[in-house]
Amino acid sequence: MDHCTAPVDEGIRVGILTVSDRSATGVREDLGGPALKAAVLGYGWHPLAEAIVPDEIDDIRRAIRAFIAQGCGLILTTGGTGIAPRDVTPEAIRGIQKLEIPGFGEVMRMRSLEITPFAIVSRTLASIVDRSLVIALPGKPKGAVECLSFVKEVIPHAVKLAQGVPISC
Ligand code: MTE
Repeated sequence: MDHCTAPVDEGIRVGILTVSDRSATGVREDLGGPALKAAVLGYGWHPLAEAIVPDEIDDIRRAIRAFIAQGCGLILTTGGTGIAPRDVTPEAIRGIQKLEIPGFGEVMRMRSLEITPFAIVSRTLASIVDRSLVIALPGKPKGAVECLSFVKEVIPHAVKLAQGVPISC
C-alpha cells in the first residue's frame, strides 16, 4: 500500500481504493485512482492513502479498514460496481457497513443516466463504515469523477455527521 503524507490542517482526509483484477496484477495501468486523486485535490481535500486491490471481498474490506485506521474520513472506491461475475465491491462494503445512505446511489445513477444509459448497471452506493463515509464509484475514470462531482457538495457535511461532529443542517 502506498501512503501519502498526512495533512496538517483539518480538511477531509481521503483514501482512494482502485478495485480491479487487471490493475492489481499490473496488466492494466490504473487510471481511475489518479483521476480521483486529481478530483480530490481540486476540491481542496487531502489524499491520504491509495491502494489497488483485486476484485476480492476480503481484500476490499481489508483495504477499507486500513484506510480507516490511518484516519481517512472519506474513502472512495472505483471499480467493481457493475454486474460482471467478478464485481463484488457493493457486497464487500455492505458486509462491513454500519448503515447505507441510499440517496447517494440514487443521485449518482439518476445524474449518470443523463450521460450514458449504461449507468443503469452501476450499483454505486455510499455507506458509513465505523465513522467514515465510503463511496463506491464506477470503474471507468470518467464515470468515477462524474459520479463524485454529482455528490461533492454534501460530502463535507456527511463526513462530519458520520464522525459525530455536532453541526446544524
Ligand atoms: N456513470 C457515469 N457517470 N459515467 C459513465 O461513463 N459508465 C457506466 C456506469 N456508470 C459510466 C457510469 C458503465 S459503462 C458501467 S459498466 C458501470 O458504470 C459499472 O462500472 P464498474 O463495474 O466498472 O464499476
